[in-house]
Amino acid sequence: MQNFNFSNPVKIIFGRDAISKIGPEAAKAGKKALLVYGGGSIKKNGVYAAVTKTLADSGIAVVEHPGVKPNPVIAHVREGVKKAKAENCTLIVAAGGGSVIDTGKAIAAGANYDGDTWDFFCGKAAVRTALPLFTALTLPATGSEMNSGCVVTNEETKQKYAAGGPALFPRVSVLDPAATLTLPARQAGYGAVDALAHIIEGYFTAQDADNIVTDEIVHALARSIIASTRRILKDPEDYDARASMMWSATLALNGLPVCGYGEIQFINHAIEHALSAIYDIAHGAGLAIVMPAWFKHHLRTAGPARLEKFGAAVFGAGGAQEAITAFETFFKEAGAPVRLSEAAIPAADIPRIAENAMGLIRLWSLPHQQREIEEILARAV
Ligand code: NZQ
Ligand code: ZN
Repeated sequence: MQNFNFSNPVKIIFGRDAISKIGPEAAKAGKKALLVYGGGSIKKNGVYAAVTKTLADSGIAVVEHPGVKPNPVIAHVREGVKKAKAENCTLIVAAGGGSVIDTGKAIAAGANYDGDTWDFFCGKAAVRTALPLFTALTLPATGSEMNSGCVVTNEETKQKYAAGGPALFPRVSVLDPAATLTLPARQAGYGAVDALAHIIEGYFTAQDADNIVTDEIVHALARSIIASTRRILKDPEDYDARASMMWSATLALNGLPVCGYGEIQFINHAIEHALSAIYDIAHGAGLAIVMPAWFKHHLRTAGPARLEKFGAAVFGAGGAQEAITAFETFFKEAGAPVRLSEAAIPAADIPRIAENAMGLIRLWSLPHQQREIEEILARAV
């Protein structure tokens, strides 16, 4: 087990009616908020009404920035930065899924910066300060509500890159599982794939894998994500399964399930971001295509030990190959594509996808060449 620092300052308020608590919390940070949200799901399920009520009751004026699209884009972030500056907003409230929260984070950083917000994503500038951010989560998947990263696409250059830094931890995130009851099955499934991906990246690329506690946290989270998702797909109104899924996905990328693993590599994410940058597919869908292919590559290059351990603990699988099959079976059960062709992505595009992925691989200093990425993708045909 390697040395590590663990620090996570995000206050989580979890449970029924948690959304009504965001107003009093936000009021501690200021009196004028930029309210960031997406394409309108929050207006249909009551989240918008609940958020705007608690903000108004707490004396917070609101400037709206709606229209975040899944796989959020830098042009829309720049508009938000302009609005936040022009209106002198002193805090950001983001209500929605990962795309909305990530847009909120990017605006929070951009509002305190004189240059172009994309500078934070392409490695030209580091995020040093940001407006305080408060989130109301509606989709368990990314963990953005309790981490300090955000992912945005530059639609002109087709780069889907990440920015981050301690200033981007939300101050408070309110998690009401009831807000996720309206999620379409497809989005719930993609969310489960993403949350699983977050724990497997660390588990399978750990520098030091002799780490009983973190391995067991990963196994428990994986079992919880899978069991909760199965219950949700069977009965979308199952509040307790929604609650388990919501908390599992938050824990999956809040820094805890990698403690002691040393340097880890988000290689499946680097490859997936190329897919969603080029084809605008859902992040979870892209991961379900990349992961089985990467596992096969991992088995060949790193051997069966980790797959055997994970497979036995999570799926009751009797070997590495069976573990890979079990992953794939679950992804299919979750409604996700597991091959490029199932997402209408031609095999002839593989060099272009791998070239795009190399942008992030270089930025993140991962030890991979384009040829190897092409080989991995060839296993996803
Ligand atoms: O736009 P609205 O109308 O809100 O609809 C959304 C959207 O169409 C809908 N939705 C969300 N909550 C709902 C709901 N529909 C009904 N009921 C609800 N309760 O779901 C659709 C997808 O939303 P999105 O926010 O795009 O999904 P997700 O939370 O999976 O976020 C994906 C984005 O986060 C990035 C991904 O790359 C992708 O861009 N990630 C962010 C990370 C982070 N910040 O830590 C890490 C991840 O690895 C990931 O890269
Ligand atoms: Zn992810």
